[in-house]
Amino acid sequence: MGFMDDASLVRRFMDADMQLTLDALDALRKREDTESAAERVLVSLREMGGRPFLITADLITKILKEENIETGPTPSVPPIRPSAPEVEAPTEREIAEKAPEFARTKVKLRASEFEPRVEVFKDITGRSYTEGKLKDFVNVFRDRYERLSRILRKRVDLHDAVPISSLKNFEGRELVKVIGMVSEKRETSGGHVVLEIEDLNGRASAWVFKGQRKLMQKSAEVVVDEVVGIVGNVRSGDRAPRLFVRDIIWPDLPITRELSRAEDPACAALISDLHIGSEMFLEDVFMKFVNWLRGETGNAQQQELASGVKYLVVAGDIVDGIGVYPQQEEELLINDITKQYDAAAKLLAQVPEHITIIIAPGNHDAVRPSEPQPAIPKDIAGGLYDLNSVMVGNPAWVSLHGVNFLIYHGRSFDDLIATIPGLNRQKSTPSMIKLLRKRHLAPVYGGRTAISPEQQDYLVIEKVPDVFHCGHMHVYGYERYRNVEVVNSGTFQETTIFMRRLGVKPTPGIVPVLDLQTRQARVIHFA
Ligand SMILES: [Fe+2]
Repeated sequence: MGFMDDASLVRRFMDADMQLTLDALDALRKREDTESAAERVLVSLREMGGRPFLITADLITKILKEENIETGPTPSVPPIRPSAPEVEAPTEREIAEKAPEFARTKVKLRASEFEPRVEVFKDITGRSYTEGKLKDFVNVFRDRYERLSRILRKRVDLHDAVPISSLKNFEGRELVKVIGMVSEKRETSGGHVVLEIEDLNGRASAWVFKGQRKLMQKSAEVVVDEVVGIVGNVRSGDRAPRLFVRDIIWPDLPITRELSRAEDPACAALISDLHIGSEMFLEDVFMKFVNWLRGETGNAQQQELASGVKYLVVAGDIVDGIGVYPQQEEELLINDITKQYDAAAKLLAQVPEHITIIIAPGNHDAVRPSEPQPAIPKDIAGGLYDLNSVMVGNPAWVSLHGVNFLIYHGRSFDDLIATIPGLNRQKSTPSMIKLLRKRHLAPVYGGRTAISPEQQDYLVIEKVPDVFHCGHMHVYGYERYRNVEVVNSGTFQETTIFMRRLGVKPTPGIVPVLDLQTRQARVIHFA
């Protein structure tokens, strides 16, 4: 028997970019010449074309048998490791980690030693009373205007904004500021941009002239139904007053804000877009993640990180659903929605029990598609309710250990990307930052994002979050914008037919883990 211990044996393979399964380790251990057998296996694997990532006991037995009877060429096994996803360069606060390989010693999970502190402070679940009538839509837009104009008026550059109805009282060409909802945006035949804006009592046309390049760029970012501040020279005398725009101001986030921090060393792992039930759901990759959470895999540092995880936040698309996109049935493994949720519950049940799982729906989940969406109901997803879970709606404002999360699946990115030049599907954080600047989760009305007219506009980003967590794009992204952690947690699903058509290149298996005490993010790649 060799003197190599299990850990160094595993490491030898890891160094060669291969992972030994437990069985494979046992197979090597059972031999008297463990060490030299391992060496010989490594040599023959290195020479193997299409070398696999996961080294099984079968493969080891095969290799060692072949060297004994000296048969033909070594078998070629197709690699099971998905190709490495393209990832944005990590920021300084973010430490990129490679996939944890498995560890021999199981650590004590320190997050089990303190209580969770979860508070849901805004969520539509159980509070939807809309009848979807016209008057409800009028009300929700009025509410949107009121909430957003309050935020805009708090800005130093807009606190002296005047009501649009008062523009008629201004003498020619005076510089004024107004806060208005954009009811229409059009381009004139001369190439100028006209924004029709209104507040609760007045309307005006705001003109951006073609020659003003910077302003034209800004106006390209304006979407209908959002609320903006306009600075401009007023031309009175007309029936409907005109403004010659000098500046367009979005509500945005305050520049300085203190970072909220947890008192306990609690971490949150952020995931989304599992799409369980789809053939493209990467169950093996997901189980690598779960095993890491259990403290069963990873190097000392990665195990230490896992042991601090107190929360698992799932930002929608837990299951793939039924009939969500054309030809979906060709890619479904489970054809029944409740069975999809059963499978999801079974997988999530393997997450250690001291981890609270926050589950919000996405557009693939079995709830009404119009936003705000209530939590996935118990009669369809009872298994998820049996976990140590908190079922919330979409969006949801949740405080975890004193750090405020805004969880939003991200359906409105489809509309935003189609509307605003420069946004695309390969980078997920720029679209998220646009929403933060607009202080609204679904500013474009009438696109793919259906909106339910509630008593109030739940989609206004009234309270500034500490963490803005989205999914939907299937592309991992992390950035800090004005002290808000902007995180898109990617996916656990491989490319579907639909995504290929959209040109989406997903980055599966990348999990950001946020330390709520230090506010540092780490990213682990499980694929
Ligand atoms: Fe998704």
